[in-house]
Amino acid sequence: MKILVTGGAGYIGSHTLVELLEAGHEVVVLDNLCNGAREALARVEQITGQPVSFVEGDVRDRVQLDALFDWHDIEAVIHFAGLKAVGESVAKPLAYYDNNVAGSLNLCQAMAAAGVFRLVFSSSATVYGPEAPVPYTETLPRGRATNPYGTSKAMVEQLLEDLCRADERWSVSLLRYFNPIGAHPSGLIGEDPQGVPNNLMPFIAQVAVGRRSHLAVFGDDYPTPDGSCVRDYLHVVDLAAGHVRALEAMSSPGVATYNLGTGQGYSVLEMVAAFTAVTGQAVPYQIAPRRDGDLAAFWADAAKAERELGWRALHGLEAMMADTWRWQYHNPKGYRLRVTDAV
Ligand code: NAD
Ligand code: WQD
Repeated sequence: MKILVTGGAGYIGSHTLVELLEAGHEVVVLDNLCNGAREALARVEQITGQPVSFVEGDVRDRVQLDALFDWHDIEAVIHFAGLKAVGESVAKPLAYYDNNVAGSLNLCQAMAAAGVFRLVFSSSATVYGPEAPVPYTETLPRGRATNPYGTSKAMVEQLLEDLCRADERWSVSLLRYFNPIGAHPSGLIGEDPQGVPNNLMPFIAQVAVGRRSHLAVFGDDYPTPDGSCVRDYLHVVDLAAGHVRALEAMSSPGVATYNLGTGQGYSVLEMVAAFTAVTGQAVPYQIAPRRDGDLAAFWADAAKAERELGWRALHGLEAMMADTWRWQYHNPKGYRLRVTDAV
């Protein structure tokens, strides 16, 4: 299949390109590079030995989308492009609704005009909201999102459900990711956050590589076994494979919603200890106040994806830690400079 991958130069997108190419699909990437790297695409080509067509552009640009669909015979779209920083979304709601909601709307309009009706959408466990009981199952209703980022994901889910109800040519997979971490085992591609990382794993890796002095553990007084928050971390290569499965399983019209997680939760302190145990790298940390908006603990019920897609996470914590470190160690400044180039 020839697949348009929006946001393919980003973290999850680049790993999904590898899985798609290795499964025999052709890819075209559309990315405005606001948080992605051209170098990531070159590395995907290096890993797979296959070419990646790249269009630098924005999902909100309808003229460019029409030209792209005219030029390429696209059969399906995987839509990663969007902004993802929760805190920033509170400060810049318009940017988030514009990018994530207006961008998705524009993409759907261009797809319909081009006669392309298969879409896989990057959603998030955040749509379950703060009141949902754990583990989260797909049968739960969407909850009250606590920030514009979460609301934007819930809005796009709703938009896509309405679209499928109105027009049975559409086939849509809503993939609700839990906490993706890790990197491709080659060490060539991985997560490359701009500025201070918001997320736990890139922060741990940057402390270990000497870019930051210590980790702040946000709260040790939660009602969890060790007092720190619990999350369902999954390897990004497993997550990427889930997209290929979702795409290939898409046969009937309508919306199908899947949690992509492991079903297993780990605390922040367990993650720090596991990183050190696997890599031998110390991660100094200090207990800090709770971070606004954090939930104590959540993890996935991942049974539906296994039952219907034949997908489950294959990598455990050890691989997640080892692969994060391999990427960080060989690319201490992300895609900007490799350690081998520095000497
Ligand atoms: P990322 O920032 O690494 O990748 C997003 C890519 O989209 C970037 O390359 C960026 O340049 C591009 N982009 C952003 N706006 C664009 C636009 N308007 N037009 C074209 N390209 C645009 O993020 P990621 O972690 O790979 O996340 C991918 C998707 O998965 C996002 O939609 C995100 O909300 C969702 N998601 C991520 C996580 C996570 O923890 N990483 C969890 C749940 C859901
Ligand atoms: C994990 C745990 C922090 C950093 C976010 C989004 C969610 C989804 C995934 C997109 C929490 C703790 C973190 C640090 C810490 N993204 N932590 N010190 O918050 O579960 O989910 O990313 O859809 O929507 O909200 O992930 O990696 O930020 O945090 O103690 O420096 O690590 O408090 O308990 P989170 P995270």
